[in-house]
Amino acid sequence: MHRVIISGIGVEIPEPTITNEELVASFNAWVDMENARRQGTDEPPLAKSDSDFIVHASGVRTRHVIEREGILDPTRMAPRIPARPDDAPSLEAEFGIASARKALDHAGLEPSQIDLIICSASHHQRPYPAIAIEMQEALGTRGAGFDMGLGCSSAAAALHMAVNLVRSGAHKRILVTTPEIITGHLNFRDRQTHFIFGDASVSMVVEGLAQGDKRPGRFEVLDTRIWTQMSNNIRTNLGYHTRTAQEDPYMINLEGNLIKQVGNKVFKEVTVAGQKFIVEFLAEHGLTPQAVRRFWLHQANARMNAMILKLSFGHEVDHDRAPMVLERLGNTAGAGAIVALSENHADMKPGDFGLICAFGAGYSIGGALLRML
Ligand code: COA
Repeated sequence: MHRVIISGIGVEIPEPTITNEELVASFNAWVDMENARRQGTDEPPLAKSDSDFIVHASGVRTRHVIEREGILDPTRMAPRIPARPDDAPSLEAEFGIASARKALDHAGLEPSQIDLIICSASHHQRPYPAIAIEMQEALGTRGAGFDMGLGCSSAAAALHMAVNLVRSGAHKRILVTTPEIITGHLNFRDRQTHFIFGDASVSMVVEGLAQGDKRPGRFEVLDTRIWTQMSNNIRTNLGYHTRTAQEDPYMINLEGNLIKQVGNKVFKEVTVAGQKFIVEFLAEHGLTPQAVRRFWLHQANARMNAMILKLSFGHEVDHDRAPMVLERLGNTAGAGAIVALSENHADMKPGDFGLICAFGAGYSIGGALLRML
């Protein structure tokens, strides 16, 4: 069995940003138009959104997005992403490649040294050909590529697979990539969720620890694990069967089929499950939360993360121990914990423990216990 390291991490954040105030202004303009239409009908008027509520309830102040104008247009409320010809790179592959190149540079590797790409994200642009195969061709990696997903635990679940494939000797070097274009699937007309998410792409190179490897700042992956338990509290019904339930199968009806969630249930249930996961996972390695220098948690909600940590430690924990990138990026689904890792490890010392823990739809939780080399 090989010792396994994360030898490279890359992050790509799209440039355009949307503040809470901008998002709320477009949402409320749409509500005004919609309520005018509803006047005199049986449909109840819709409530407006509020920037102060968003900061208080979630901790999010801005988010980066692939395309902002379509989202902010109250007559559209969705990013405008033009279709591309089949022989042009897809947006998801392009986004994945951008973070992948940074991860390869960080690892000091050529694409030809990678023998598997796993592209793992909450929402894939299409089922086939796999986005990972498109990336394989564009980057020039060897071997194979496949797509997978596990909601906001997508990167952690792919890391679980990659680490075990390298540990067993089945593959030598694996590129795990999580390009999250979550705004493409978000219902910007849903007051409960319109403010939560943003776009980001992350990649990691996973390989065996070679004797004499002198690259500084690398992490050994001591162990990984995943946990799932069925829940409908975060759900999308958009898929191949959407059209078959409709009178006119050639007019896709998105109403009710985009992301929906019961936010307060997710909050309560995932907080408890997350705390249990963290404490039990660490205990299996003879560790307590206090022994871990840094926690890179899923960037779901500032209060939710604070609660998970408080339950785990028995007291409040500061951002030095568990950094947050949510305030400026929003919830970037599977990418969030890895962005937090990428931005917050340079000060760690050899021997320091760190824990990646992502959680979300499924329910699902994925974790990786790291030690700085
Ligand atoms: N603007 C203003 N008020 C809003 C609002 C908005 N955009 N959205 C909801 N509210 C109101 C509700 O109407 C409700 O009002 P009421 O008390 O008068 O009925 C009140 O705020 C509380 O609603 P609730 O849904 O209980 O809010 P919350 O405190 O649970 O916060 C979330 C909502 C979504 C921020 C929070 O539940 C959350 O972050 N959950 C985790 C979800 C998540 O991150 N999922 C991703 C995968 S882990």
